[in-house]
Amino acid sequence: MTATASKTTASAPGKAILFGEHAVVYGQPALAVPVSQVQATAMVAAGAGGFWIDARDLGRRYRLEEARPGDPLAKAADLVRKRAGLERLPDAVLSVSATIPIASGLGSGAAVATAAVRALAAFIGLTLERGDVSALVFETEKLLHGTPSGIDNSVVAFEQPVYFVRGQPPQPLRVARPFHLLIADTGRPSPTRLSVGDVRAGYQREPERYARLFEAVGAIARAARLLIEDGQPDELGPLMSRNHQLLQAMDVSSPELDRLVDAACRSGALGAKLSGGGRGGNMLALVTDETAAAVERALLEAGAVRVIHTYCRAANP
Ligand code: PMV
Repeated sequence: MTATASKTTASAPGKAILFGEHAVVYGQPALAVPVSQVQATAMVAAGAGGFWIDARDLGRRYRLEEARPGDPLAKAADLVRKRAGLERLPDAVLSVSATIPIASGLGSGAAVATAAVRALAAFIGLTLERGDVSALVFETEKLLHGTPSGIDNSVVAFEQPVYFVRGQPPQPLRVARPFHLLIADTGRPSPTRLSVGDVRAGYQREPERYARLFEAVGAIARAARLLIEDGQPDELGPLMSRNHQLLQAMDVSSPELDRLVDAACRSGALGAKLSGGGRGGNMLALVTDETAAAVERALLEAGAVRVIHTYCRAANP
C-alpha cells in the first residue's frame, strides 16, 4: 500500500432523473443528469483513537466499529478498506456534509457516499476509476433503497448525463443543445425506499397494468433521448408531462408535487414532472430563459421551498 495523506477532500454533485424513475427498476431505460448546484463534500483528516465518521448534517459522530447496522458511510469506508487490501483503516476522521436535501430525489445518499469513497481512497493512496467508485457506491445504495436500479450512483460517480438501463454500463447521453430546467422542492422529504416498495406492491397486485405503465415510461425515455441527442430539447415538454401522468398512475405523486407541476405548466413551462422517488421531494420544469423567472415565481407561490436553476449540457471532456 502507498503512503497515507494527512488530509484529503472530495466532492460529488446531486442528480436529477429527467425521465424513467421507477420504471428503471423494472428494466426500462432512464435519463439522468448531474446537478452541480448542490453538492456533497467529504474530508478525511488524520486523527487518533481509531477511524471516526462525522456526519455533521445528521449531528452524529461515531467510531467505525460502533456504526449502526446498515450504515451506508460505514459500508463505504469498509468497502474502500477491503478494496485497498487493508486489515484496518488508519486513525482518521471522515467528515461529510451536503447541500443536497435528504430524501428529496436529488441523490443525496449517492453523492455523500461518492464523496466519502473518493476522499477516503485518496487518503489511503488508492486509485479508483469512476466505474469503481460507482460500483462501491451501488453497494451503499442497497442499504438505503433496498433494490436500487443503479442510476443514482452512475450519474453521480460519472458526473455526466447518462442513458441508463439496469444491469448495463451507463451510456453517455449526448446533450446536443443545452436546456434550462428549474428544480423545485416541495420541502417534504420522502424516503425512496417507501415509494419503491409501494410500486413493487402495486406491480404484484396488478402486474399487467404496471407493466404497461413501465413500458410507456420506457418509450418516453427512448424518445426523449433522441430529442436530446438531436438538439431538440424544446420538444421534451409534452414527454415530461406524460411521464408525470404515468407516475401519478403508479401512485407516486402527491398533492404538493401535482400543485407544483400544474403551477409550472400554467405559468409557461414547456412541461413538468416529479423527479426521483416521488411522494415528496423535487420536481422539474422545462423552461426557456424567457419563461424561467415567471415559472420560478409561480413555483414559489405554489409552495416550493427552493427553486434551483440548472442547465443540462454536454459533460466536460
Ligand atoms: O429518489 P431518488 O433520487 O433516489 O431516485 C430513485 C429512482 C428510482 O427509480 C425511484 C429508484 C431507483 O433505484 O432507480
